[in-house]
This record gives sequence, structure tokens and C-alpha cells, in this order.
Amino acid sequence: MKRMIAVIVALLAFIGIGYFVSTNNQKAPAKKAVPTVGILQMMSHPALDQIHKGIIAGLKDAGYTVGKNVKIDFQNAENDQSNMKTMSERFVDENADVVVGIATPAAQALANATKKTPIILGAITDPKSAKLVKSNTRPGGNITGVSDQAPIDAQLKLIRQLMPDAKVLGVIATSSDDSAQTQAKMVEQKAGQYGFTVKRFGISSTNDLNQVAGQMASQVDAVFVPTDNTIAGAMQTLVAVTDAKKIPVFPTVDTMVKDGGLATIGLNQYHLGVSTGKMVAAALKGKKPATTPIHFETSGDLIVNLKQAKKLGITIPQSVIDEAQKTGEVIK
Ligand code: TRP
Repeated sequence: MKRMIAVIVALLAFIGIGYFVSTNNQKAPAKKAVPTVGILQMMSHPALDQIHKGIIAGLKDAGYTVGKNVKIDFQNAENDQSNMKTMSERFVDENADVVVGIATPAAQALANATKKTPIILGAITDPKSAKLVKSNTRPGGNITGVSDQAPIDAQLKLIRQLMPDAKVLGVIATSSDDSAQTQAKMVEQKAGQYGFTVKRFGISSTNDLNQVAGQMASQVDAVFVPTDNTIAGAMQTLVAVTDAKKIPVFPTVDTMVKDGGLATIGLNQYHLGVSTGKMVAAALKGKKPATTPIHFETSGDLIVNLKQAKKLGITIPQSVIDEAQKTGEVIK
């Protein structure tokens, strides 16, 4: 009898443990109720901050509201490479469903951290030359997204229209910034068609911006600034130097005109973010990056800064002001 009870107890214990193990096993692969999106922003500057805002709005447009049916893990790497690496790895560890890289170095850090999790690019100038995708039309791997390639021809045409007598165009860019270098080369190739000679100037960080800008301002008639992450965060430093020599600065984006540029036909940074957010939503719903082409915006908005024009003694034709008022923005 004792033996029988012992056998029954052992049997019950066995069944009990078996039950416990099996229910625990069922819990593990269960799908998370709310998906997580990891957003890695390279650093703070007004353009990237606008893109971040736009991503959240684009997600909402597509049915994903933060705090309701999507969780955002937002990380700002403060322009530090080792931050970008650890933050990317953290997204992978926490099993983020989709990750987003804002600016090229952030996207490259994500690409190094995962070949599986879908990565959406937030305004990367040329994903192919940054080695993020095999082709911009058919990415092939786990990466797709939005390009912020500026309409360079329209911009050069505008500079020629506002500066009919200018001959030398200074182009300033950070040596390590792939995005800025790609555009600087494009400007160098195209400027001749608009009657400009290009002089290139390089900086390694904000530390030498003041000095290089000083040398540049005494050798050129106008300045072109590409989508350069370092300069986008230091427009005040550049403009203080160029204003003193009455040299206008033509940046590539809206936010940099607001920060002291004279004019541009530029991509609206917030809208780039909205487009990115919509692609994140599509990826959350299972759309494959491999076969989703990179999205390129085709036209920019005309933005003129009349405060800057007045400071520099440059007259902007009324037709340009009217056009900006109608289709873009006039800063007064
Ligand atoms: N295109 C930049 C990159 O790939 C990022 C960027 C987006 C940017 N918008 C900008 C940089 C505006 C400077 C200004 O790194």
C-alpha cells in the first residue's frame, strides 16, 4: 500500500512538472501585444529633429499611435560612434520589430548589428554608395527607406538667378560625412553648367569651422552647404563668419535657411520623416525591405530668408518672393 501511494505521488508530481513545463513553453513564443520600433538618431540638429517628429506623425497617419498600439524606443547617439554601436545592439537584444536609422552613421551602425530585423532609413542621401543596399531600386537585404537627395540642379539654378554676377562658389563639407561628400561632388560636377567655378573646403569637426569659413569667405562669391550633419548643427558659427564678409550661404534644406541661409529649393525635413514613418508602418505589417525600392522625393520647396537678404544687401526679385509665398516659405 505504501509503495502504491509513493508511486501515485511520484506520478502526480511528474504530471505536475510536465504541465508546468509545457505551459511555460507555450508562453515563450507568444507574439508581443504591442510592437516595438527602435529609432536611432545620429545626433541633434534641427533637420534630424524634424525628421524624428515626422516619423512619429507618419506612423500615426498609418494607424500606429505611440502609447496605444506601438512602443517607441528612441535613442540619440549625440554624434558618438560607440553610442551608435551599443544602442543598435540594445535594439536587437530587446527584439525590436523594426528599427530606424536617422542619418548615415546611425543606419550603418544598425546594419552592422542585424541582418534580420527590418531597418528603415530616415533620410539617407545615397543608400547604395553608403553600402547599405545592393541597389536603390531593389535593396535585396533587410534595409529600405527614404533618401533625402537634394534637387541640386534646381538649387544651382536658384543661386544663379539670385547672384547673376557670382563666379566662384565655395562648397564646404565635413570630410568624414558621406552624405555631404556625395552632394559636394555632385555640385562640383554640375556647377560649370550654371557658370560657376567651384572651390572645395573641408572641415574635420566644428572645431575648425570658424577658421576654414574665414579662409573661404575671402575667396568666394557665394557658399553652398550640402546636407552636412556637422554644419547643420553649427549654422550660427558659419553664418557669423560669412555675414561679416557679406557672402550669402545657400544650404540644401529648409531648416538651414531658417538658421541663417539665404535661400534654397529644399526638401521639407518633416515630410521626409512622415514618408519614413509610413514605410516603418508598412514594415510592421510585414512588407519586405528586400523588394521595396528606396523612396526619393522629386521636388523641393522654395524658401527665402528676407532677414538675411537685408543683412547682406541682396535684392531678391519680387517674382521669387511671390513664388516662395505661394508654394514654400518666406522668412521675414
Ligand atoms: N542625409 C544625411 C545623412 O545621410 C542626414 C540628413 C538628413 C541631413 N537631413 C539633413 C544632414 C539635413 C544635414 C542636414 O547622413
